[in-house]
Amino acid sequence: MKTLIVYYSLEGNTEYTAQQIAETMGADLLCLKPVKAYPTGKVSKFVWGGKSAVMSETPELKPYSCDAAAYDCIVFGFPVWASTIAPPLRTFIRSQDLKGKRIAAFACQTAAGADKAFVKLKGELGLDALEAELTLLDPKTKPNPENEQKIRDFCAALKG
Ligand SMILES: Cc1cc2nc3c(=O)[nH]c(=O)nc-3n(C[C@H](O)[C@H](O)[C@H](O)COP(=O)(O)O)c2cc1C
Repeated sequence: MKTLIVYYSLEGNTEYTAQQIAETMGADLLCLKPVKAYPTGKVSKFVWGGKSAVMSETPELKPYSCDAAAYDCIVFGFPVWASTIAPPLRTFIRSQDLKGKRIAAFACQTAAGADKAFVKLKGELGLDALEAELTLLDPKTKPNPENEQKIRDFCAALKG
């Protein structure tokens, strides 16, 4: 099974997880980068990122190469923003034909909202369910030994 991990990460937690999953599964990685980067300032990131998420924006992405047809499985990775997906994922999903793919996703969050974000993601994809879901709490900035097992379980669910 050939797997592509498509992710967006503002501050590294999602990227860190994407790399761990890629290593565990032998998957390829595609990092989405908006043309206009979201700010990382303590307040500005919540103002601009939060507004963009609540407005369900589709920010323009920097050019990337993705031959989705070459993959059996797509794993989406995103930080939870205002209880929904980070907007760059929406731009990607709307520009791709992902019919027939196995789709899974993982979310990084500080506290809560991933469940709602997965519902939004499924709506965006037109799916009733994902092959596997994983939620981690700020895995890079707040390392937790339990995360490794959660990642292994997520990868095993996808391979099974
Ligand atoms: C605009 C914005 C909105 C956020 N909204 C939520 C939220 O609704 N729930 C939550 O638990 N964390 C929220 N967070 C925190 C991030 O989801 C969390 O820190 C995540 O691990 C960051 O991933 P990253 O380092 O890959 O960007 C928000 C962060 C930002 C910047």
